[in-house]
Amino acid sequence: MQAMFGFMVSKGLSVAATLNVADALADGPRYYADIAKSVGADQRSLHRVLRMLASVGIFTEPEPGKYGLNEVSELLRTDHPSSMRDMATMITSDSHWLPWGKLGETVRSGKSGPQHAFGTDLFSWFQDTPNRAEWEIFNAAMTSFSSGVSIQVAEAYDFSAARKIVDIGGGHGHFLRAILNTVPDAKGAVFDLPGVVEGTDTLGGRIEPVAGSFFDDTLPTGDTYLLKHILHDWADETSTTILRKIVDAMESNAKVLVVETIMPETTAPHPAKFMDVNMLAMTEGGCERSEAEYRELFATAGLRLTRIVPTKGPISIVEAIKA
Ligand SMILES: C[S@@+](CC[C@H](N)C(=O)[O-])C[C@H]1O[C@@H](n2cnc3c(N)ncnc32)[C@H](O)[C@@H]1O
Repeated sequence: MQAMFGFMVSKGLSVAATLNVADALADGPRYYADIAKSVGADQRSLHRVLRMLASVGIFTEPEPGKYGLNEVSELLRTDHPSSMRDMATMITSDSHWLPWGKLGETVRSGKSGPQHAFGTDLFSWFQDTPNRAEWEIFNAAMTSFSSGVSIQVAEAYDFSAARKIVDIGGGHGHFLRAILNTVPDAKGAVFDLPGVVEGTDTLGGRIEPVAGSFFDDTLPTGDTYLLKHILHDWADETSTTILRKIVDAMESNAKVLVVETIMPETTAPHPAKFMDVNMLAMTEGGCERSEAEYRELFATAGLRLTRIVPTKGPISIVEAIKA
């Protein structure tokens, strides 16, 4: 039953995040009627969703109809340093909910969910849809998802030798800023699609935002390349094109750092197995890869995998240099 009803938790969580319920509980538990008034919701409907979420440990319910925060829902606060609020909002917004609704068609046809739901791939839909809000939700979600991961990567990997760090598909530059904060002498460039990099905070001029496509345009030159949650969006052939573009632009002794979950070659539960089905549903051939698959992918692009650095979380750093 829990497995079957799991989507109700995801959607309810997303609704609570979108309504900023956690912010309304920042000063302590409140009755649902009071929360509903603050967040602009229907009292009884909100009560029923919060009751379900409290029953699975997402909020507390110290008295019937009174809800409070715990360490899980604290992460839904907008002012939490590792806030997951925007990610929780995005994961069942139209950009993901509609393609995921087509998973059956995807499994039968092998074609992505966005192709079935929107008639095109996700990033083209974001760029072309008149509903610009969906792209903004997605970009905010990527920043939100980055907050915890950035700290873990900065702690796990020694960036002290880096002088020019280029974040490929770096969104609004949140991850790059977290890394640059640990290497005060280094500069950076964030490369992403036009319409995304415009939102970059340049860290007082240390980050150069560069707009373009990693399929068509020349990439900035640097000694360290970050690819966080990029290669898992794309099939092997397309990923090889991106990596070759990096090989063409990189300094001869540069490092390429791919930040992804690594698919374990065991039957044990692992977040990579969930992320992988998300990639199946949402992307054109994207997937989570095992160490052996990264080794092969890099070799095809003219790179050599040197090591995999684990972090405290489920994400690892796959390091490569020119072959
Ligand atoms: C899954 S997001 C990851 C964002 C960021 N690296 C992070 O981890 O938060 C994928 C990123 O790739 C960017 N992207 C997609 N197609 C691109 C292209 N052709 N050229 C450059 N960036 C692209 C998207 O705009 C988005 O920011």
